[in-house]
Amino acid sequence: KNIVILISGRGSNMEAVVRAAQSEQWPARIAAVISNRADAGGLQFAASHGIATAVVSNKDYPSREAFDAALQAEIDRFEPDLVVLAGFMRILTPGFVAHYEGRMLNIHPSLLPLFPGLHTHEQALASGVKEHGATVHFVTAQLDHGPMVGQAKVEVLEGDTPETLAARVLVQEHQLYPRAIRWFVEDRLTIADGKVLIDQTQ
Ligand code: GRF
Repeated sequence: KNIVILISGRGSNMEAVVRAAQSEQWPARIAAVISNRADAGGLQFAASHGIATAVVSNKDYPSREAFDAALQAEIDRFEPDLVVLAGFMRILTPGFVAHYEGRMLNIHPSLLPLFPGLHTHEQALASGVKEHGATVHFVTAQLDHGPMVGQAKVEVLEGDTPETLAARVLVQEHQLYPRAIRWFVEDRLTIADGKVLIDQTQ
């Protein structure tokens, strides 16, 4: 299976996926890493691992629709079975999301449905929750919604700052996201009635 990963920055989740795909010998290849920012740190890691990279800058397009059309054209050159959003910081248009229905995953740094949107670690600390974490979900038109594939939890500790909490959640993201993507490439995920069923028989 072909996987295309979209990033906007550091790309540590992308890196975790690339490393897992290699070391666990997934029946898949990372066909490309595409960024909306030329300065995304993750592009160098991808290139140095022999992965095709591309930049489609949202600043070069007059509207979200025009940007998403260009992005879609670039992604589809690689004939993806799965599109992975890994810290991709753009809100996608409904047409784009529909095009990849059932084959686009996102990781969000909260235990959805709690704290959609930005600044999730600040939101978690402000609300006083005792646990926090990350969620992998299929992407649907509504931001940070969509059928959930899995979650990873961390305890919120006394004295946590958004930074310390984010760092602890990130460690979990790097375990959770590769595992969820592996399930997809092994054809173990089915979406039924808005819920993800995971085939545990393999
Ligand atoms: C992660 O926390 C991810 O959950 C969120 O943005 C961050 C991206 O980090 N969507 P990285 O670029 O994968 O290092």
